Amino acid sequence: MAEVAPVLAGNGVFRAVEWREGKVLMLDQTRLPAEEAYLELSDWREVAEAIRTMRVRGAPAIGIAAAYGTALAAGAEDPLGEVDQACRELKATRPTAVNLAWAVERMRAVARNAPRESLRDSLLAEADRIAAEQDAADHAIGEWGADLLPPDCRALTHCNAGGLATYSYGTALGVIKTAFRRGRIAHVWVDETRPLLQGARLTAWELMREGIPMSLICDNMAGHLMSRGEVDAVVTGADRVAANGDSANKIGTYTLAVLAARHGIPFYIAAPISTLDMESPDGGAIPIEERDETEVTTLAGTAIAPAGARARNFAFDVTPAELITAIITERGVARPPYERSLRELLG
Ligand code: MRU
Repeated sequence: MAEVAPVLAGNGVFRAVEWREGKVLMLDQTRLPAEEAYLELSDWREVAEAIRTMRVRGAPAIGIAAAYGTALAAGAEDPLGEVDQACRELKATRPTAVNLAWAVERMRAVARNAPRESLRDSLLAEADRIAAEQDAADHAIGEWGADLLPPDCRALTHCNAGGLATYSYGTALGVIKTAFRRGRIAHVWVDETRPLLQGARLTAWELMREGIPMSLICDNMAGHLMSRGEVDAVVTGADRVAANGDSANKIGTYTLAVLAARHGIPFYIAAPISTLDMESPDGGAIPIEERDETEVTTLAGTAIAPAGARARNFAFDVTPAELITAIITERGVARPPYERSLRELLG
């Protein structure tokens, strides 16, 4: 993986991942906020490794990265065989985010039907389309979601469902960004989001670039803030939404939803249609990624537990539909019962 100068920064706009001169360019999220470092990847195996190690993360963003990865594979001597292998391995890098499998399947379908001589161009055009659709979806989600928030809203969010997790604007953060532009956001509470601190490192970085007032809180402070009446709404993203509305998102989201219900605070999920998985009837069918114990026993590379201490490291949890006030998509806002409203949105 080569590192290149920060060519994507500027004008306040960034792209989590994009295609540049025959290579995949990626903002290395493991280095934020200390450095804005960009990786230049010329092999799909490097893209797979970058997804596994979370240099790029967030459900839609890993789908886009994988899509460009398959275009890299088309440069091989046996392009069809290589694209097939890339599709299989890229899809297996992270199990919970359905956007990853969805994007890879779109690429596989293009590979099946494209003329051999234009395979790479066809794959590239499809990857560009997936990225452009995500960008449009983010902005539409922002439009639908912003008006759900009350004026002078003090919103709480978890993990990072911003442009870093999608492409450029974000889903849950897209709602918050659009609401802020409409004068509806007074403050954003940002959960730090252990173990990998996506809230502290990434959401704080995105909100501060936009000049949106925010305060970081430790994950265990949310209940206390709610009990003081200082949270008006919770907005998070999702990695997979089952047919009944049960939604998988970063570990700790379920806890927030229970707390929100206890305090009568609306709890919103913001997610594109590509995050809906109608083949999973409910949350029990969603595979939950478990990651290495050392992510829990260390903090920024330093041990915080006695040597040899064991840990569990579930990357996601499932929030039951009954705790979700509404699911905000680019096609509109779904309300309970979700079995019906999600199907209606899907048409
Ligand atoms: O493990 P991560 O950082 O990939 O988890 C990301 C999340 O949980 C996001 O909230 C989710 O992918 C939605 S992104 C718009």
